Amino acid sequence: MKQIQWYPGHMAKTKRILRETIKQIDVVLELVDARVPFSSMNPIVPDIIDNTLRVIVMNKADLVSKSDLDKWKKYFNKQGMGCIYLDARHHKSKQMLLSLIEDTVSELKDKALDRGIVDRPIRVMIVGIPNVGKSTLINLLSGKKKLVVGDKPGVTKQTQFIRVSKQLEIMDTPGILWPKFEDADIAHKLALIGAIKDSILPLDNVVIYGLDLLKNNYRESLENHYKIEVSEDPVETLDNIGVARGCLMKGRQIDYDRVYRLFLHDFRHEGFGKICLDEVQEDV
Ligand code: G4P
Repeated sequence: MKQIQWYPGHMAKTKRILRETIKQIDVVLELVDARVPFSSMNPIVPDIIDNTLRVIVMNKADLVSKSDLDKWKKYFNKQGMGCIYLDARHHKSKQMLLSLIEDTVSELKDKALDRGIVDRPIRVMIVGIPNVGKSTLINLLSGKKKLVVGDKPGVTKQTQFIRVSKQLEIMDTPGILWPKFEDADIAHKLALIGAIKDSILPLDNVVIYGLDLLKNNYRESLENHYKIEVSEDPVETLDNIGVARGCLMKGRQIDYDRVYRLFLHDFRHEGFGKICLDEVQEDV
């Protein structure tokens, strides 16, 4: 995982660069992790993109059930945003996304043509917090295409576009946004999926938070995975996992560090099946 430390200075600089760049962009693809569609958003996006068209791309859809994905898609659509869920590692996702981008900009393009503006490629920028799959998505869209280096008006030295087709160019580097650390629930969810470094929050807190989430929403998956009974007391559950998986020290004491790492590994590698940690709040 990338080692990014976000300080107020970095945030201000990122905001400034994005605000400058957005003037050249027709559509912003905001990438979120489908396991945490809300928690992996960054609240500054609307402020930065102003009136630019915005599409939410729920990536890592392979890790979430279709019913949860559909609920969230409906939610985002209701908020007036285009939305798609996909697995950016799969080639078939490319055409689905290109079609959505085309639909999203069709009105904009028609208006431009009416005003006599010649047809030019649509310019797309990808933004999102670390680890949501931005580079994977850029690779999917661009393949091995070459950069269109900025020697034309409106393309600054820092901003380079990759021509995907006659109709579409994407910015070669994504806008990397900072995760929402301030809200404890969100920070714990991001830590659970590995979107923020394990060193940021105490591991025991993250694991106990995760156990609690699973106990309340995916109890059977948790019990079946470790062949244990889940207790109301999280320490007892940790002990049960430790015994079931042999995470023991001398004298048969539970090696909690090993239990934490095992649990996090399993959490991040579909050990408990398809999981969505955010709930749609509104009645959609
Ligand atoms: P970023 O640029 O936003 O930081 O993310 P990046 O593309 O580097 O992707 C982060 C990790 O997520 C990569 O795994 C990548 O393969 C994986 N990934 C991207 N899209 C999908 C998807 O749709 N589904 C799933 N399941 N995984 C996806 P990695 O390099 O192995 O990193 P990690 O898993 O060790 O974090």
